Formats: sequence, structure tokens, C-alpha cells
Amino acid sequence: MISLQNLHKSFGSKHVLQGIDLQIPNGQITCIIGKSGCGKSVLLKHIVGLLTQDKGEVLIDDVSVASMSKQELFEVRRNIGYVFQGAALFDSLTVYENVIIGLYEHGERDMALLNSEARRVLSAVGLLPDISESGSSNFEKEFALLSSKKPSDLSGGMKKRVGVARALVGSPSYIFYDEPTTGLDPVNSEQIDRMILELSKKLSITSLVITHDMFSVFNIADHVAMLDNGKVCFEGDAHTLQHTNDSRVSEFISRFQPGARLQ
Ligand SMILES: Nc1ncnc2c1ncn2[C@@H]1O[C@H](COP(=O)(O)OP(=O)(O)O)[C@@H](O)[C@H]1O
Ligand SMILES: [Mg+2]
Repeated sequence: MISLQNLHKSFGSKHVLQGIDLQIPNGQITCIIGKSGCGKSVLLKHIVGLLTQDKGEVLIDDVSVASMSKQELFEVRRNIGYVFQGAALFDSLTVYENVIIGLYEHGERDMALLNSEARRVLSAVGLLPDISESGSSNFEKEFALLSSKKPSDLSGGMKKRVGVARALVGSPSYIFYDEPTTGLDPVNSEQIDRMILELSKKLSITSLVITHDMFSVFNIADHVAMLDNGKVCFEGDAHTLQHTNDSRVSEFISRFQPGARLQ
């Protein structure tokens, strides 16, 4: 379980996180919402140790991230799949290379292992048939075709899926998605939402989704936290979010009609 306690972070005179208290329940989908620039990505980066807080604690299974040795932090990072804002794929690498790059860079050269991991994660995100068909001529044909493609050959939705596949390599317990539907049309956004839900159920993975897409929130969230002015101004389920009287929340969600995205 991930727990943030009184987390503070400033950049120069800008006090971005002003005492964040938040619990991220295991096995659920937690959505973090809030205006652009309010500190959502900054918050995520603290959990994986890419940024260090000025004050407060990030606890993962009761261990403080800031107090971890390099080795411990490495283990924590390995257990968290991180889907970066934008797909953040390497344009010059193939889909296959983009997916297994983390393992490869850590010295893994067992081709059978790299291949089976690539098949597993590309199937999990729906870019290949069900993994039970692995080995069949159809599966292998599709795998060969997809593997050799470059990001420029893919649609926006497919690129996002490759980014998610990469994050699933190594079977992490947690997956963080930073703005997974941003830049996608309604149909593709809906498909990405469905994929996040499916992965959460199938893999029992704890999902943390940063988004300003309220349709996604109402589609997928078990738990929602809203940031405003460096603090958590709402925490609860999506139903409570819709019925809260807090003006910051109602103003933020008023632009959205749940269920309307595909109409
Ligand atoms: N490494 C950094 N150095 C300086 N300022 C930063 C850095 N990262 C983020 N910020 C600032 O912190 C604020 C929050 O950024 P961010 O978390 O990216 O917002 P968002 O909620 O849109 O994800 C912004 O004002 C941004 O400019
Ligand atoms: Mg961001």
C-alpha cells in the first residue's frame, strides 16, 4: 500500500505540493484529478523517487522511499510500471525493442525470456490475440508483424497501448498512468479506459491514474482524489464526487456529463 503523508515540494518560490495526505488502496483504481499544472505529475514522480520531497513521507508498504538505499529504490521501481505522459516511445526503435528495453538495459540477454515477455504484455494490452493462442501460426504471424513496426506506423491508441505494455514487463504490483487518454479521440479514450479496467481485474494490479478526463474517472475509478492549491481537496468514490458540495470540485466536474463522451 502506498501512503503519502504531509508531502511538501517547492520549485524555487513555487510551493507546488503543500501537505498532501493520501492513501492509495491496493487492488483498486485510484484516479488523481485536478487542473493542469496543479502538481499531479510531480506527485507521481515522488512515489517512484524521481523527485524528492522537501518535507513529509512517501511510504510504500510502510517503508519510506526517501530512506531507501539505491538497491531498495531499484526494487521499488521494478515493482511499479510507469506509463509516461504522451506515449514516450523511442521513435527509432521497433515495437518489440520499445517493450523490452528495460529488461535489455538491465542486462537481460535470454532471447526466449525476452520474446515470451513481449508476447505476454502485448497480448495483455490487446495488441495481440489472447496469450493462450501463443504458438499458433496466427498469433506468431501477428507477433512478427507488430514487433517489427516502428511507432510512426502506429495509431495514437496503439502507441499508448505499447507504452502500457512496456510498463507491464516484469509483472509489477503497481501501474501508474500519467494522462493515458490525453490527445485521443472519444472512441480510443473509451478503449483505453476499458483496457485499464481489464488489466486491473485480470492482473489484480493496483492502478494510479492521473487524468483530467472526467469521463475516464466515471468509467474506471474506485477511488478519486482531487488536488487543488497543493492539497487534496476531495477524496472518495466517483459517486460521492458527483454529489459533493465543495465548489472547487463541482466547478471542476461541471463541464462533464458522465456517459456523454460517446454520444
Ligand atoms: N522539475 C521541475 N522544475 C521546476 N518546476 C517544475 C518541475 N516539475 C514541475 N514543475 C512545476 O510544478 C507545477 C506542477 O507541475 P505538474 O505536476 O507537471 O502539473 P500537472 O498537474 O499538470 O501534472 C507546474 O507549475 C510545473 O511548472
Ligand atoms: Mg502532468
